[in-house]
Amino acid sequence: MRRPMVAGNWKMNLGRSEASALAQGLVDGVDDVNNAEVLICPPYVHIADAEAIVSGSAVQLGAQNLSDQDAGAFTGEISGAMLKDYSCTHVIVGHSERRALYGETDELVAKKFAKAQEHGLIPVLCVGELLEEREAGNTESVVARQLDAVIQANGIAALENAIVAYEPVWAIGTGKTASPEQAQEVHAFIRNKLADMDSGIAEGLRILYGGSVKSSNAEELFSRADIDGGLIGGASLDAAEFLAICRAA
Ligand code: PGA
Repeated sequence: MRRPMVAGNWKMNLGRSEASALAQGLVDGVDDVNNAEVLICPPYVHIADAEAIVSGSAVQLGAQNLSDQDAGAFTGEISGAMLKDYSCTHVIVGHSERRALYGETDELVAKKFAKAQEHGLIPVLCVGELLEEREAGNTESVVARQLDAVIQANGIAALENAIVAYEPVWAIGTGKTASPEQAQEVHAFIRNKLADMDSGIAEGLRILYGGSVKSSNAEELFSRADIDGGLIGGASLDAAEFLAICRAA
């Protein structure tokens, strides 16, 4: 039985005091979340404050990105070791905003995935198609290509200690959620594809859905066989709303 996970991706939002208030609100309410693992991924500069607030609670801490390098002359970068030092357990890699706006290629994402694991962090690997790609009937080939880049570089066994998030780009921040059927179809495709390589890993892998999840649509999405929780952007910025999503999982 896969334990569901709900992860909040705060993106580049919230000032320092707002970020701390949100983290505190989640700590205060997390005991009512019976089933799901709860993870927050604040902006880097808020991670130290968040660490102090979530320490000893069921709220886990992660980051939104990491460097593909370990240390040295890499201005503006943050390493996996640094994140580990601040009690991060997870890190998002290959978010579509990183791919589309900051030019992250499949190969770079595969390297970041490896770096995360080298530093003892669990990568939350994001995959998903653009609207044009869906309309052209290429959803599966795009998702397969993104997964294959990681598997070719790191081996299928690397997915044993990872999480995948299916985030159709056209559903992110648009208010346009994939229907539970559309999401389930891609989640099942991902699991079946991986099962061809290693059925145990495929069965154990948590595949989160992301893209305009809110408390009003979470339960229906999470009730599907291969949807093991969510990666939440906008709706993770409100403690009550995010906790309601967590309770739906
Ligand atoms: P959204 O973002 O929930 O605001 O659509 C999801 C994500 O990008 O992780």
